[in-house]
Parts: sequence; structure tokens; C-alpha cells
Amino acid sequence: MTSAATARGAGGLRSARWFGTPDLSGLIHRSALRAEGFTREAIDGRPVIGVCNSWSELVNCNVHFRALAHSVQRGVLRAGGLPLEFPTISLGEQLMKPTTMLFRNLMAMDVEESLRAYPIDATVLIAGCDKTVPAQLMGATSAGVPAIMVTGGPAQAAVFQGRELGVGTDLWRYLEDYRAGRMSDSEFGQLEAALGPSYGHCNEMGTALTMTSVVEALGMSLSGSASIPAVDARRYAAAEAAGARAVDLAHEGRAAGYFLTREAFDNAITLLMALGGSTNAVIHLLALAGRADVDLTLDRFREIAEHTPVLANIRPSGEYLGEHLHHAGGVPTLLKELRPLLHDVPTVGGTTLFQAIRSAPDPDGEVIKTLSEPMRPDGAIVALRGSLAPDGAVIKVSAASERLLSHRGRAVVFDGIDDLSARIDDPDLDVDADSVLVLRHVGPVGAPGMPEWGALPIPKKLLSQGVDDMVRISDARMSGTAFGTVVLHVAPESSVGGPLAAVRSGDPIVLDVESRLIDLDVPRQEIDRRLSGFEPPPPLFGRGYGAMHAAHVLQADRGCDLDFLVAVPGETPERDPVGMLTGWIGGW
Ligand code: FES
Repeated sequence: MTSAATARGAGGLRSARWFGTPDLSGLIHRSALRAEGFTREAIDGRPVIGVCNSWSELVNCNVHFRALAHSVQRGVLRAGGLPLEFPTISLGEQLMKPTTMLFRNLMAMDVEESLRAYPIDATVLIAGCDKTVPAQLMGATSAGVPAIMVTGGPAQAAVFQGRELGVGTDLWRYLEDYRAGRMSDSEFGQLEAALGPSYGHCNEMGTALTMTSVVEALGMSLSGSASIPAVDARRYAAAEAAGARAVDLAHEGRAAGYFLTREAFDNAITLLMALGGSTNAVIHLLALAGRADVDLTLDRFREIAEHTPVLANIRPSGEYLGEHLHHAGGVPTLLKELRPLLHDVPTVGGTTLFQAIRSAPDPDGEVIKTLSEPMRPDGAIVALRGSLAPDGAVIKVSAASERLLSHRGRAVVFDGIDDLSARIDDPDLDVDADSVLVLRHVGPVGAPGMPEWGALPIPKKLLSQGVDDMVRISDARMSGTAFGTVVLHVAPESSVGGPLAAVRSGDPIVLDVESRLIDLDVPRQEIDRRLSGFEPPPPLFGRGYGAMHAAHVLQADRGCDLDFLVAVPGETPERDPVGMLTGWIGGW
């Protein structure tokens, strides 16, 4: 456990160093809040709960967070705290380009420095859309501040042609129908009108619902809260309860690092596998572990996957949506069924994990399967290695085609997204159903930011022949809502000279999931010879955050954090603000 795990509380409230002194320093700080209309009674002796809000009108998934923040504030006041809401940057999957992943670490820095610099005793993190969840947790962990997360909940299901839709999974299928000419322009327009019936995050087991569920398993949010639909009044009640708990956490002084232990990460990975969850969670958990000073590698995902069955029958691995998961008992029911595979750990709710899930309903056997009759007997996500990915790659087996999990095919290589766009539907493209589509220079440095481009489209001429899946390999990620036999996160990436850079169209590639293997079947000497002449592509950013990201981002097997943000083992990641305060007047 890091020193940040118990960073505050022993010496009283942190905010008292700002507001509790009878001198000029205290006067100045109190007067800042009195200028907002607070009375002295509202300030004195109360823990300050920072309500860290990723609300933005640019992020449709998070657009209800002002109302959620009001509920949080009600809970904080009820428990005797002082809620102060503050904004951070927000990351919306649909509108932000080239990819929100480029900015996850920037948001984490924003959260970390806001928490550290202001007189905050504990924080309620309000997040929903994919990257906002790990970004807030990473920042709060590094800041060493007690934290509890409130998530936005899955959006209502869209209904199109009489069928309930997932926002992502079904869209990808309809897109393929449209490209293959099986769907008319008019139907495509009707689909657009139907797709977004409410606020909230994606309602299948995409990255958002995966991450919010995983946060529950980490013990960082209230039990049962992840899957409550965004529009359900119980989500607002849960937000109020979280606000009240934040006041207790401030008094207890237990920072995020207290809860983010090796055992908690094991629980999170176990749930991830049982969910058939998003491959993006692998990257985010690796990054979060780096912040919490927990030694986590892809090997641990492999070990846990081997004995963890898939239990959640949720798209894209299954049939149902987030709302159905909630009505079947949600994460507590899944964890209760997985209990033989879990550790009992403390949670921010004030109980242990096992106490929190004790009264959860049993699985219904349909939306949530049982250990004795699972969806799949072993893990949803498999970590691969081989001559094509010496530092690892992942594949979501639960959303892949069984027939392609052992496959040998010749590579068809695309150098970046523009090359892919230009040639994928070329009638003269030399490709067949057994080919392996390879996309490179789309990794953390190369793209930059490792966009969700890994589920390459099936070439139109093959689509029209009825081909609905092919082996695809890249150093990119894919949406948690996507599906197919897609090998992702190849490390090291091609743009830093990884073996993916050596592949030529026509080379044989071998995927053997049972042996955890991804190989470029070309003699080692030939791979080395090709790589000896490797020239990195020119950087896209010459200045600013993009240049900083390219210079410092770690590879996918290390969670794509920036190297200078990872916890330094044995050192507290926070600066004590007392020194800054005693000399306040010089710095004001
Ligand atoms: Fe925001 Fe899917 S687009 S969660």
C-alpha cells in the first residue's frame, strides 16, 4: 500500500489548513467562499467535498451530470459536509477527434492537479463516457485524495424496426448492411433518428458500462450503482448516497490507494472477463495500476482469464442490454456468483465487497448465467504474444468467430487510416476471405492516441459475397461495442519499430488463440533485416500536448500512461500543501 493510501485524515481535515486558521491566511481563504455567499457556519469545521464534474454539452453521454451533481450535493449537505463543484475537461467518444484516448492522460492531469491544489478533503468523481471514468480515477489516485465515483448509467435502448438497439454493436451491423447494399438510404435515415433516445452512456457492454462495472468491483463506487439506467430516479438516489459517503471518507482519510490493491485489481479483472467486457478496460486497468503502484502486467489478465467464465449475456458478446443487466441484479449478482474467484476487500461504501453483495439476487440463468452453465467456460479476453507482438496483444474471444481462432492467412497491409480508406473497397484489392487485414501506424505514438480503428471494415467485395468476419490485426484499439476476430494493442507498435512495421502484403500470419500465439511466419533474420531499415513516420504534432504525448506515452502493455505520471515506487505522489500555505502572501 502506498503512503498515498492513507495520506490524509490523521492530522484532521486537509481543508482546515486553508479555512481553519485564525490569521490573515484563514481570513483570505474564508472570504473567497463568503464572496460566493457562504456563511461562516457553512464553512467552519465541515469537510470540503469536491464534486468533480465531467459535464459538457459536447459529451452527450454526460449531459445529465449537472442534475446528478445536485443529488451528490444534497447527500454531502445531509452528512454535514460542504460540497463545492468544479469542472474538468471532458471527453466525448462521438465528437472528439482524433480520439479521446489521446486526451485521457490530459484529463487525468487536470483532475489530479485540481484536487491537489484546492482545499478538498474528499471528492465525488462524476463520469460516464468511456475515458472520463479512468481519467478521473487515475487523477484522484495520483492526488492521494479520498474519492468515490458516481457514474452516469446506460442510456435507454433505441427501438428500430421493432427491435431494441445497442448504441454501438447494432450500429456496426447496420453499417455493414448499408455498405453491402442491404439497407436503403431511407432506412439509414430512420436509424439515425432512432439511435439516441436519451442521455447516458452506451447501453451494451462497451467500454463505458465495462469500466463503470469494473469500478464497482474495484470497490470505488457504491454497490449496485453501475447499471442503474441513466434516466432512472434510483441513479439520483445513488448519487445522493455517494455524496453522503464522501463525507465519511473525508473523516476516515482513506485515499483511493487504500482501496486499489492487488486483490482489488484481481477482482476487477475477474469481473471484466465474466462480463465479456471491452478490451479497452485492459489498457485502463494497466494504467490505473501504474498510478496505484500495483505491479500489474498482461500475464495477470491471461492467468485470470484461464479460469474465469463469461457470465453476462450482454451485447456484443451476448443478446441483452445494460438495462436488462440491471433488472437481473447488475454487478452485485455477477460478483455474488463469482465469489469463489474473488477476494474480500474494503470498498468506499464502508463495507467489504462480500458484505455489499450478500443480499444480491441469484442469477436468472438467462441475462446473468451461472458458473455451472456459463456463456463460455473461460475468459472473454485473451492476451497473445509471438514474433508479431513480443510485448503482447489482445483479442476479445467472446466477440470473435470460433472458426477463425486458429487461422493462417496472408497479410494485406494498410499503412494508416488514409491508406485503409483509399483501398479497402477497391475492387482490385488482392484479398480473399482467408486474408489477414493488417493496419499499422495507428498506435499510441503513430496515430497518435491509439484510436478505435482496429475493427477494420470487411472489404465491400467480400461483404457482398457474404463474408462477415476476417482476422484483423493492428496496434490500434477497438470500440467495446465492436465485434469480430480482431487482434488489438500489438506492442511494441509499428511507429516505434515493432515487428508490425516489418510485415509485407503476402506474408503468412498465424493466429492460434489456444496457444496464445500471434506470429509473423517469416524467418527471424528476415524480420530483423527489414526492421534495420525502419524509419519512423514524421510526428504529426510539432508542439503542444500532442508533441508531449508522443514523447512520453507508454506502449499498450503499460496502459498508455505518460511515463512521468506513473507512481514512483515507495514515494507519496502528493506534495504537502502546508509549505505553500505558510508562505501564502508571497504566492498570492
Ligand atoms: Fe459515450 Fe459510448 S459514446 S459511452
